[in-house]
Amino acid sequence: MMGVFHILKVAALAACAIAAPVEERKSGKGPKSFLTEVGNSTWVLGNEIWNVTQGRQYANKLWYKGKDRVGQAVGHYVSYNGAASDLNWTSAAIFDSGSSWINVKFTAKEGDFHWVIHDDLAGAYQYFVNHALPRLGEFRTLWRLDNTSFPNGHTDVKDGVLPPVEEYATATNVQDETWQTADGTFLTKYDWSSFIRTQTFYGVYGDEVGSWYINPGKDYYNGNHLKEELMIHRESKTGDAVQLNMIHGTHYLASASDDFADGKTWGPWLWYLNDGSKDDASQRWEEEDKSWPYEWFNDTGYQSRGSISGRFVLSDGRPASGAAVFLGDSNSNISTADQGRDYYYTVYADNGGNFKIDNVRAGTYGLYAWSNGGSIADVATSFVKNDVVIIQNEENSIKTLNWTVTDTKSRIFQIGSFDHVTDGFALSGPTPFEHARISKCPANLTYTIGASNTSDWCFGQSALGTWSINFNLSSIPSSAAGAKLTASLAGFSGGSSANILLNEVKVGNITTNSALLVSSQDTYRGATRAGEWRLLEFPVAGGLLKEGNNRVDIKVTSSTQWRGWLWDSIVLEWV
Ligand SMILES: *[C@@H]1O[C@H](CO)[C@@H](O)[C@H](O)[C@H]1NC(C)=O
Ligand SMILES: *[C@@H]1O[C@H](CO)[C@@H](O)[C@H](O)[C@H]1NC(C)=O
Ligand SMILES: *[C@@H]1O[C@H](CO)[C@@H](O)[C@H](O)[C@H]1NC(C)=O
Ligand SMILES: *[C@@H]1O[C@H](CO)[C@@H](O)[C@H](O)[C@H]1NC(C)=O
Ligand SMILES: *[C@@H]1O[C@H](CO)[C@@H](O)[C@H](O)[C@H]1NC(C)=O
Ligand SMILES: *[C@@H]1O[C@H](CO)[C@@H](O)[C@H](O)[C@H]1NC(C)=O
Ligand SMILES: *[C@@H]1O[C@H](CO)[C@@H](O)[C@H](O)[C@H]1NC(C)=O
Ligand SMILES: *[C@@H]1O[C@H](CO)[C@@H](O)[C@H](O)[C@H]1NC(C)=O
Ligand SMILES: *[C@@H]1O[C@H](CO)[C@@H](O)[C@H](O)[C@H]1NC(C)=O
Ligand SMILES: *[C@@H]1O[C@H](CO)[C@@H](O)[C@H](O)[C@H]1NC(C)=O
Ligand SMILES: *[C@@H]1O[C@H](CO)[C@@H](O)[C@H](O)[C@H]1NC(C)=O
Repeated sequence: MMGVFHILKVAALAACAIAAPVEERKSGKGPKSFLTEVGNSTWVLGNEIWNVTQGRQYANKLWYKGKDRVGQAVGHYVSYNGAASDLNWTSAAIFDSGSSWINVKFTAKEGDFHWVIHDDLAGAYQYFVNHALPRLGEFRTLWRLDNTSFPNGHTDVKDGVLPPVEEYATATNVQDETWQTADGTFLTKYDWSSFIRTQTFYGVYGDEVGSWYINPGKDYYNGNHLKEELMIHRESKTGDAVQLNMIHGTHYLASASDDFADGKTWGPWLWYLNDGSKDDASQRWEEEDKSWPYEWFNDTGYQSRGSISGRFVLSDGRPASGAAVFLGDSNSNISTADQGRDYYYTVYADNGGNFKIDNVRAGTYGLYAWSNGGSIADVATSFVKNDVVIIQNEENSIKTLNWTVTDTKSRIFQIGSFDHVTDGFALSGPTPFEHARISKCPANLTYTIGASNTSDWCFGQSALGTWSINFNLSSIPSSAAGAKLTASLAGFSGGSSANILLNEVKVGNITTNSALLVSSQDTYRGATRAGEWRLLEFPVAGGLLKEGNNRVDIKVTSSTQWRGWLWDSIVLEWV
């Protein structure tokens, strides 16, 4: 990926990589940022504002504003598949440098982790270049920091004090990283989750210092618009303040397991230190966002970018207003949520169905679109076009994309919008994450088409009981061979199952452990707005429907607490 010149330069530097900048520093020339090897696989790197002591696995000291900000905590590391595999650094060297910056490369057998340190920057740009990562689901970099310096956490949906570790000690563990306190409330790290692609700045902070992640661009992340991740949390065993950078994550997904090409690069993002000011971190996000893609990042693949634009028109003539548009894998049988081996772009079309994505890495993509509600909330079908080629420095324009939709005149009823989220249903808000909120949805519910309101349907279903939909048919169209029932789920955590009945005859099912419905880690981890979306379609024999009153029942036949499904929409239509 790097030019030949670079490889030679690294080789030439290898012998004196560490000593040279120190000499330059003494002579007053060259960068003040430094990397020093202190022996026994230990290095100190930083500038005059901060410095980090990096061991074979962990960077366990961070000097900033007169104190070590790691303290008793673990520090900085890079790991995959949960905490199972922390990378081991076999060497470190200055990979590149300018008059006021250095690019430090730590090498592990899986790949290289870089810190780009500028003399006047509190923090560093960081990136990882894959060479031999195994197939994995989770891959992350993180800071586990001193909890007295960093008592608070911030994401775009939550801000406040991280619950003290003492509270965990007196509470009862009820599931994966979730505790119930004596007063019945829950403590869970998943409260500190968010949607990663709309994230601006996030991190941990206190009165003296703040440590933030600012990830502009985001094309190296896996998943689509609704990709959720754990962002920060209190480490429940040690009390560390944890700042996560889930660059490939699965916390809310079903099966995001990927192999990566040699050279796949995550980042650069900015790890940013300040005095704890959220306003300052926010301003820094604005600056970084404007500067993306970074001109200074001298990497051929990263700099080779073009744009794509086009207009989506539905086959019934309507513009695909506000549609979610995703540029991902070409000719893939993996859902957009679970795609993650390469680079991914997410935008929304305008009211006229037009979209444009700038700064796409050159390559071959699949172009996908689906309804994001609004005036096309009736659209259940998705659009896909494979083999879309993005050419460097070219505006790749596709004039009209014809998106086949079904005739809405055939609709018997629809509850909720096709938008892949629970918005509009009871209890879907106000926050997108809350452990056990699904237990507040009723076991039994009756919804009458023509009389009930969308907000009478609840966002998630789990409890044993029946949700009934009553509807009237004035006549049975002679042209209809039968009907189709569509259950669009915004998420599904296995453990609960249901039968779907029409006039007391089973026509469909939502079944745990079925090949069609792999469990995802969304509903039980308190996702209330979205998780991994699935579309279930069931044919209905025409003879089951009759003039006058009819009823669809979603009858939960087995239930596991907090597990079940999030509703996106439910539709019955003639076919
Ligand atoms: C070298 O580091 C290892 C682990 O990082 C430690 O166990 C060992 O005591 C260190 N040796 C010296 C001489 O500092
Ligand atoms: C790291 O920072 C501390 C505190 O400012 C300082 O005492 C120490 O000398 C620095 N380390 C290096 C190698 O510059
Ligand atoms: C790093 O080394 C430790 C042993 O010190 C080992 O347990 C761990 O598996 C290694 N990490 C990887 C990713 O191989
Ligand atoms: C901070 O961590 C220490 C252990 O290093 C723990 O004793 C203390 O309770 C933690 N503080 C909070 C607020 O969780
Ligand atoms: C990248 O680095 C090489 C070698 O230093 C240089 O020749 C080239 O102009 C640089 N490219 C960019 C885009 O900065
Ligand atoms: C779009 O495709 C449908 C069939 O899927 C076809 O009937 C219709 O004519 C097409 N519209 C345009 C504008 O090409
Ligand atoms: C996709 O196709 C591959 C290869 O044909 C197969 O192994 C895999 O199971 C399929 N995945 C899904 C989600 O259908
Ligand atoms: C439906 O519910 C919404 C949200 O609660 C409310 O604003 C609206 O007035 C309700 N409409 C009817 C017809 O009850
Ligand atoms: C739900 O309805 C069934 C059938 O009427 C009834 O047996 C059950 O007690 C109800 N559950 C709740 C929680 O009300
Ligand atoms: C559930 O529905 C699917 C069709 O979506 C069908 O293939 C499967 O056999 C059904 N399973 C049960 C247990 O009824
Ligand atoms: C449904 O149809 C039945 C019989 O045709 C009628 O008595 C009833 O009033 C209708 N209900 C609604 C809500 O239209």
